[in-house]
Amino acid sequence: MKKMVAANWKMHKTCTEAQQLLHDLDIPLRSIPGDREVAIFPPFTALFVCSKILPTGIYLGAQNCSYKKEGPFTGEVSPTMLKDIGCHKVLLGHSERRILFHENNSILQKKINIALEEGLEVIMCIGETLVERENDQIYTVLIQQLSILPEILTNVSQQICIAYEPVWAIGTGKVAGQKEIIEAHSIIRNSLIDKYGLEGKDIRILYGGGVKANNIKDIIKIENVDGVLVGNASMNVETFKKIIFDW
Ligand code: PGA
Repeated sequence: MKKMVAANWKMHKTCTEAQQLLHDLDIPLRSIPGDREVAIFPPFTALFVCSKILPTGIYLGAQNCSYKKEGPFTGEVSPTMLKDIGCHKVLLGHSERRILFHENNSILQKKINIALEEGLEVIMCIGETLVERENDQIYTVLIQQLSILPEILTNVSQQICIAYEPVWAIGTGKVAGQKEIIEAHSIIRNSLIDKYGLEGKDIRILYGGGVKANNIKDIIKIENVDGVLVGNASMNVETFKKIIFDW
């Protein structure tokens, strides 16, 4: 299985800035080692320009999508539209969406289903808050968040990827320690195997929250870490190159 390095640009970068960043990154596909894949998640407005200049083989994804395909839903963007402009993946359930935009499991479940129907690979973000961690609720929280994944009979690992992002480590400069990552990723792995049988072993589980150039080597080698989802550090050219290449 290829490990994934995913860049979540959040609400940063105009079209011009996005083009400049990709230009400065200048990652020729042939230079990416065969055991990893790179994916970029710009804001909606920059997706189209990015799709025109990304080298084939570096994947494009959106940070969110509607739970409807089409219709009177002002301000929404459908998975059909994302597919049409060259997106291969979509991030769903990021904690910023759950917390700031009140996305609950029932909305998220609809989004996941429709995105999969449209042929997008879904990266579902899950993770506990600090209070939940302090109350020993990690297992319960993760299992509940995973419970909305649909039954899929074939090629699950091509369609679904999980990003474990402890809420307390996102954009805070804190990073989960090895022990915490091992614990959470093993809960997730076991739950995926329970649901999907042996294929559950091949579903990628990314770690996200405070990934940087100086911790990528340690994080990426942890058991059941199949890639990373990077926010802040993905928008700095030198740092992001190190995160892609230096391990
Ligand atoms: P961070 O964000 O790398 O800035 O902590 C990660 C994310 O929110 O996906």
